[in-house]
Amino acid sequence: MTEITVVEDPGAAVADRLTEAAERGGQIVLTGGSTPRGAYGIAAERDADWSGATVWFSDERCVGPEDPNSNFGMADRALLSRLSRPPRVMRIRGELGYEAAADAYDALLREELGAQPRFDLVLLGVGPDGHVASLFPGKPALEETARLAAAVPEAGLEPHVPRVTLTFPVLNAAREVEVLVAGGDKAKAVARGFGEPPDPDAPASRVRPQDGSLVLFLDEAAASAL
Ligand code: 6PG
Repeated sequence: MTEITVVEDPGAAVADRLTEAAERGGQIVLTGGSTPRGAYGIAAERDADWSGATVWFSDERCVGPEDPNSNFGMADRALLSRLSRPPRVMRIRGELGYEAAADAYDALLREELGAQPRFDLVLLGVGPDGHVASLFPGKPALEETARLAAAVPEAGLEPHVPRVTLTFPVLNAAREVEVLVAGGDKAKAVARGFGEPPDPDAPASRVRPQDGSLVLFLDEAAASAL
Protein backbone atom coordinates (compact mmCIF):
# COMPACT_ATOMS: atom_id res chain seq x y z
CA MET A 1 0.00 0.00 0.00
CA THR A 2 1.39 3.41 -0.96
CA GLU A 3 0.41 6.41 1.11
CA ILE A 4 1.12 9.84 -0.30
CA THR A 5 1.42 12.72 2.14
CA VAL A 6 1.69 16.16 0.59
CA VAL A 7 2.57 18.81 3.16
CA GLU A 8 4.23 22.19 3.26
CA ASP A 9 7.22 20.89 5.17
CA PRO A 10 7.75 17.18 4.47
CA GLY A 11 11.05 17.29 6.35
CA ALA A 12 9.21 18.17 9.57
CA ALA A 13 6.76 15.29 9.02
CA VAL A 14 9.66 12.89 8.54
CA ALA A 15 11.40 14.27 11.63
CA ASP A 16 8.28 13.32 13.63
CA ARG A 17 8.31 9.77 12.22
CA LEU A 18 12.02 9.36 12.88
CA THR A 19 11.57 10.56 16.43
CA GLU A 20 8.71 8.15 17.07
CA ALA A 21 10.66 5.22 15.62
CA ALA A 22 13.69 6.16 17.71
CA GLU A 23 11.63 6.35 20.91
CA ARG A 24 10.29 2.87 20.16
CA GLY A 25 13.88 1.63 19.96
CA GLY A 26 13.71 0.78 16.29
CA GLN A 27 16.25 -0.28 13.69
CA ILE A 28 16.34 2.86 11.55
CA VAL A 29 18.01 3.48 8.20
CA LEU A 30 19.03 7.05 7.40
CA THR A 31 19.96 8.32 3.96
CA GLY A 32 22.09 11.08 2.45
CA GLY A 33 21.23 14.19 0.49
CA SER A 34 20.18 17.74 1.21
CA THR A 35 16.45 17.13 1.81
CA PRO A 36 17.04 14.54 4.57
CA ARG A 37 19.54 16.92 6.18
CA GLY A 38 16.70 19.35 6.92
CA ALA A 39 14.66 16.57 8.50
CA TYR A 40 17.63 15.55 10.66
CA GLY A 41 18.04 19.12 11.90
CA ILE A 42 14.40 19.25 12.98
CA ALA A 43 14.67 15.82 14.65
CA ALA A 44 17.76 17.01 16.53
CA GLU A 45 15.78 19.92 17.96
CA ARG A 46 13.22 17.45 19.35
CA ASP A 47 16.11 15.82 21.27
CA ALA A 48 14.14 12.65 21.96
CA ASP A 49 15.53 9.53 23.60
CA TRP A 50 17.28 7.66 20.80
CA SER A 51 19.30 5.46 23.19
CA GLY A 52 17.26 2.32 22.49
CA ALA A 53 17.48 2.72 18.72
CA THR A 54 20.07 1.60 16.19
CA VAL A 55 20.85 3.77 13.20
CA TRP A 56 22.10 2.36 9.89
CA PHE A 57 22.68 3.98 6.49
CA SER A 58 21.07 3.32 3.11
CA ASP A 59 24.31 4.09 1.33
CA GLU A 60 27.64 5.81 1.63
CA ARG A 61 30.20 7.55 -0.50
CA CYS A 62 33.67 5.97 -0.29
CA VAL A 63 35.29 8.73 1.70
CA GLY A 64 36.20 9.06 5.35
CA PRO A 65 33.65 10.07 8.00
CA GLU A 66 35.10 13.60 8.22
CA ASP A 67 34.79 14.24 4.48
CA PRO A 68 32.09 16.77 3.51
CA ASN A 69 30.67 14.14 1.11
CA SER A 70 30.19 11.50 3.81
CA ASN A 71 26.54 10.60 4.42
CA PHE A 72 27.42 9.50 7.94
CA GLY A 73 29.27 12.79 8.52
CA MET A 74 26.24 14.78 7.38
CA ALA A 75 23.83 12.81 9.61
CA ASP A 76 26.26 13.05 12.49
CA ARG A 77 26.61 16.82 12.24
CA ALA A 78 22.90 17.44 11.64
CA LEU A 79 21.47 14.94 14.14
CA LEU A 80 23.44 12.19 15.83
CA SER A 81 26.11 14.24 17.58
CA ARG A 82 23.46 16.71 18.76
CA LEU A 83 21.35 14.18 20.65
CA SER A 84 21.76 13.98 24.40
CA ARG A 85 20.68 10.31 24.33
CA PRO A 86 22.20 9.05 21.07
CA PRO A 87 21.52 5.72 19.36
CA ARG A 88 23.94 2.95 18.44
CA VAL A 89 25.31 3.90 15.05
CA MET A 90 26.29 1.39 12.37
CA ARG A 91 28.07 3.36 9.74
CA ILE A 92 29.40 2.20 6.38
CA ARG A 93 33.19 2.48 6.47
CA GLY A 94 33.61 4.22 3.13
CA GLU A 95 37.27 4.89 3.81
CA LEU A 96 37.99 1.16 3.26
CA GLY A 97 37.19 1.44 -0.46
CA TYR A 98 34.04 0.18 -2.14
CA GLU A 99 34.68 -3.57 -2.11
CA ALA A 100 35.99 -3.87 1.43
CA ALA A 101 33.41 -1.40 2.75
CA ALA A 102 30.54 -3.32 1.10
CA ASP A 103 31.87 -6.62 2.50
CA ALA A 104 32.25 -5.14 5.98
CA TYR A 105 28.73 -3.65 5.95
CA ASP A 106 27.21 -6.86 4.59
CA ALA A 107 28.92 -8.83 7.36
CA LEU A 108 27.84 -6.33 10.04
CA LEU A 109 24.22 -6.52 8.88
CA ARG A 110 24.27 -10.33 9.00
CA GLU A 111 25.92 -10.36 12.41
CA GLU A 112 23.47 -7.90 13.96
CA LEU A 113 20.23 -8.67 12.12
CA GLY A 114 20.63 -12.05 10.40
CA ALA A 115 20.49 -13.01 6.74
CA GLN A 116 17.14 -11.27 6.15
CA PRO A 117 17.12 -7.96 8.00
CA ARG A 118 13.75 -6.33 8.48
CA PHE A 119 14.24 -2.67 9.34
CA ASP A 120 11.53 -0.80 11.21
CA LEU A 121 11.99 2.38 9.19
CA VAL A 122 13.99 3.02 6.05
CA LEU A 123 14.26 6.64 4.95
CA LEU A 124 15.10 7.33 1.30
CA GLY A 125 15.43 10.37 -0.93
CA VAL A 126 15.08 10.37 -4.71
CA GLY A 127 17.68 11.84 -7.05
CA PRO A 128 16.79 13.74 -10.25
CA ASP A 129 17.66 10.57 -12.24
CA GLY A 130 15.24 8.53 -10.11
CA HIS A 131 17.94 6.88 -7.98
CA VAL A 132 17.43 5.85 -4.39
CA ALA A 133 20.21 5.08 -1.90
CA SER A 134 23.15 4.53 -4.32
CA LEU A 135 21.07 2.42 -6.70
CA PHE A 136 21.61 4.34 -9.93
CA PRO A 137 19.86 3.70 -13.27
CA GLY A 138 21.43 0.97 -15.37
CA LYS A 139 24.03 -0.12 -12.80
CA PRO A 140 24.62 -3.76 -11.79
CA ALA A 141 23.80 -3.14 -8.10
CA LEU A 142 20.13 -2.80 -9.12
CA GLU A 143 19.99 -6.52 -9.89
CA GLU A 144 21.82 -7.70 -6.77
CA THR A 145 19.73 -10.18 -4.80
CA ALA A 146 22.27 -12.29 -2.89
CA ARG A 147 24.02 -9.51 -0.99
CA LEU A 148 22.59 -7.19 1.65
CA ALA A 149 25.10 -4.45 0.77
CA ALA A 150 26.63 -3.97 -2.68
CA ALA A 151 29.65 -2.11 -4.00
CA VAL A 152 28.99 0.60 -6.58
CA PRO A 153 32.29 1.32 -8.36
CA GLU A 154 30.82 4.17 -10.43
CA ALA A 155 28.19 6.56 -9.17
CA GLY A 156 25.68 7.85 -11.72
CA LEU A 157 25.73 11.40 -10.34
CA GLU A 158 27.84 13.91 -8.44
CA PRO A 159 29.84 13.40 -6.35
CA HIS A 160 31.49 10.85 -8.64
CA VAL A 161 33.05 8.73 -5.95
CA PRO A 162 32.41 4.99 -5.57
CA ARG A 163 29.59 4.04 -3.22
CA VAL A 164 28.23 1.25 -1.08
CA THR A 165 24.48 0.68 -1.01
CA LEU A 166 21.83 -1.48 0.59
CA THR A 167 20.22 -3.70 -2.06
CA PHE A 168 16.56 -3.80 -3.09
CA PRO A 169 15.72 -7.04 -1.23
CA VAL A 170 16.80 -5.36 2.03
CA LEU A 171 14.98 -2.09 1.34
CA ASN A 172 11.80 -3.93 0.36
CA ALA A 173 11.83 -6.16 3.44
CA ALA A 174 11.37 -3.14 5.73
CA ARG A 175 8.27 -2.60 7.86
CA GLU A 176 8.07 0.94 6.57
CA VAL A 177 9.87 2.79 3.80
CA GLU A 178 9.52 6.57 3.84
CA VAL A 179 10.50 8.54 0.76
CA LEU A 180 11.18 12.23 1.35
CA VAL A 181 11.27 14.56 -1.65
CA ALA A 182 10.94 18.33 -1.94
CA GLY A 183 11.13 20.73 -4.86
CA GLY A 184 9.86 20.98 -8.42
CA ASP A 185 13.18 19.77 -9.87
CA LYS A 186 12.29 16.32 -8.49
CA ALA A 187 8.67 16.24 -9.76
CA LYS A 188 9.51 14.13 -12.82
CA ALA A 189 11.61 11.68 -10.84
CA VAL A 190 8.77 11.28 -8.32
CA ALA A 191 6.29 10.62 -11.13
CA ARG A 192 8.63 8.09 -12.76
CA GLY A 193 9.09 6.27 -9.48
CA PHE A 194 5.60 6.39 -8.04
CA GLY A 195 3.15 7.58 -10.72
CA GLU A 196 0.79 5.37 -12.69
CA PRO A 197 2.33 3.60 -14.44
CA PRO A 198 5.79 3.83 -12.90
CA ASP A 199 8.82 3.88 -15.21
CA PRO A 200 10.79 0.64 -14.75
CA ASP A 201 14.02 2.45 -15.69
CA ALA A 202 13.75 4.67 -12.62
CA PRO A 203 15.24 2.81 -9.64
CA ALA A 204 12.62 4.43 -7.37
CA SER A 205 9.97 2.38 -9.17
CA ARG A 206 11.48 -0.72 -7.59
CA VAL A 207 10.93 0.52 -4.05
CA ARG A 208 7.90 -1.54 -3.16
CA PRO A 209 7.99 -3.06 0.35
CA GLN A 210 6.66 -6.62 0.12
CA ASP A 211 5.07 -6.82 3.51
CA GLY A 212 5.37 -3.27 4.76
CA SER A 213 4.18 0.21 3.98
CA LEU A 214 5.48 2.79 1.56
CA VAL A 215 4.88 6.39 2.57
CA LEU A 216 5.82 9.33 0.37
CA PHE A 217 6.40 12.67 2.08
CA LEU A 218 6.30 15.35 -0.60
CA ASP A 219 5.83 19.07 -0.89
CA GLU A 220 3.40 20.34 -3.51
CA ALA A 221 6.13 21.02 -6.04
CA ALA A 222 7.55 17.49 -5.80
CA ALA A 223 4.05 16.02 -6.11
CA SER A 224 3.07 18.21 -9.07
CA ALA A 225 3.61 15.59 -11.82
CA LEU A 226 1.86 12.70 -10.04
C1 6PG B 1 23.28 9.99 -1.59
C2 6PG B 1 21.89 9.69 -1.05
C3 6PG B 1 20.88 9.77 -2.17
C4 6PG B 1 19.93 10.91 -1.87
C5 6PG B 1 19.21 11.42 -3.09
C6 6PG B 1 18.44 12.69 -2.83
O1 6PG B 1 24.23 9.43 -1.11
O2 6PG B 1 23.34 10.85 -2.47
O3 6PG B 1 21.78 8.68 -0.18
O4 6PG B 1 20.21 8.60 -2.49
O5 6PG B 1 18.99 10.54 -0.92
O6 6PG B 1 20.17 11.70 -4.05
O7 6PG B 1 19.33 13.67 -2.41
P1 6PG B 1 18.99 15.22 -2.42
O8 6PG B 1 17.93 15.43 -1.42
O9 6PG B 1 20.28 15.90 -2.08
O10 6PG B 1 18.57 15.49 -3.81
